[in-house]
Amino acid sequence: MQNEHQRYADNEAKYKSLRDDYKTPPEIYKPILEIFGASKFDLDVACTEHNIPARFYFTKESDGLLHDWFGLCFCNPPWKKTIKFIKHAAKQHNATICFVIASDRFYVDYMQEFVINNPCAVFLILPKKQGFIIPSQKNKTPVPSVGTSIVIICESVQEAEKIKNNINYRNLFNTTAFRGGGIYENLVHYNET
Ligand SMILES: C[S@@+](CC[C@H](N)C(=O)[O-])C[C@H]1O[C@@H](n2cnc3c(N)ncnc32)[C@H](O)[C@@H]1O
Repeated sequence: MQNEHQRYADNEAKYKSLRDDYKTPPEIYKPILEIFGASKFDLDVACTEHNIPARFYFTKESDGLLHDWFGLCFCNPPWKKTIKFIKHAAKQHNATICFVIASDRFYVDYMQEFVINNPCAVFLILPKKQGFIIPSQKNKTPVPSVGTSIVIICESVQEAEKIKNNINYRNLFNTTAFRGGGIYENLVHYNET
């Protein structure tokens, strides 16, 4: 039987991309800021150039995975390390972390565990495929083969519920946002009724 790490590794091996430093376009990060009524994030946990408006940044060199994250965080992870960034986010206690992740990852076990079955997570799939920016080629926005999802890991279930409702009420992404975490809560509820 495969252990957890082997399963995760197998899933990761299925993803291929030419580079891991694509920059997020404003069409994606601006509505995320709008959810929180903020003009910038407190921290971009994974960057090279300062593309995302933020007060602080972690890069490959300073290694965002070695630090605690704080405040309103942005994370478009290098694709090969997505699982590490998601797992690190789940360990944070003083941060709300907004991820940009390829939407075809939802079937993968770590997305099931840390997003779909996590009551503190809010997620949605953008209705159109988005282009990402190649560093130093400002106008080139290659459209990836897969779609894009936004995942927000919140500090509490209450915060997640509030954010989900805010996104849906204001129709910020032209699609529906969901909160994760149903199965364990629902199982208890189901067994009691
Ligand atoms: C997909 S890009 C996102 C860039 C930028 N944050 C944005 O969204 O426009 C991922 C970035 O993470 C950086 N990176 C790779 N490993 C990292 C690590 N351990 N800690 C922090 N950043 C890392 C890469 O160099 C790359 O610039």
